Amino acid sequence: MAQEPGLTLPHSENFRQVLGRLPTGVVIVTGGLPEHPSGLVCGSFMSVSLDPPLVAVAPSKASTSWPAIAAAGSFCANVLADGQEQLARRFAQSGADKFTGLAYGRSPATGAPLLEGIAAWIDCRIYSQTEAGDHWLVLGEVLELSVQREAGALVFHGGSFHPLG
Ligand SMILES: Cc1cc2nc3c(=O)[nH]c(=O)nc-3n(C[C@H](O)[C@H](O)[C@H](O)COP(=O)(O)O)c2cc1C
Repeated sequence: MAQEPGLTLPHSENFRQVLGRLPTGVVIVTGGLPEHPSGLVCGSFMSVSLDPPLVAVAPSKASTSWPAIAAAGSFCANVLADGQEQLARRFAQSGADKFTGLAYGRSPATGAPLLEGIAAWIDCRIYSQTEAGDHWLVLGEVLELSVQREAGALVFHGGSFHPLG
């Protein structure tokens, strides 16, 4: 549906609709205690600095998984490949035990859950966490990272998942 020009107030529906036109990659941020892993889908992940190597992600203050990840002081960003929509949906639910019955390994630097079938991973120590409205703006210092397998990307655009490449 075409958007009427002039509706520019940043009320939440308009904000979501407009920002939803920006395609994003899909990352599952994992971490927490080894015996009680946590994770959530984030589209806000981005590269920030090369020296030092920094990335950014914006978890919501309403996230039930982020506090346990933050408490451990580190996280691993699992970059989803095309075909991993189901995994994305699983980690976009709140509160559920998302790891039950899921096969996963451990990232080498921080020991955070490394999910199977992902395209790449970025293992980080939390460098800073600042308030950003109803979200946190978190910088991660990259300790190790790798491409896991040659695969297309999973992209989120206009409210749905799309395979790329
Ligand atoms: C494509 C996509 C991108 C998302 N990006 C973010 C994000 O950047 N930050 C965030 O806090 N939640 C984001 N979410 C929503 C969370 O994944 C969702 O609220 C989840 O239920 C949080 O789980 P938790 O309560 O266990 O932390 C995104 C969801 C989807 C489907």
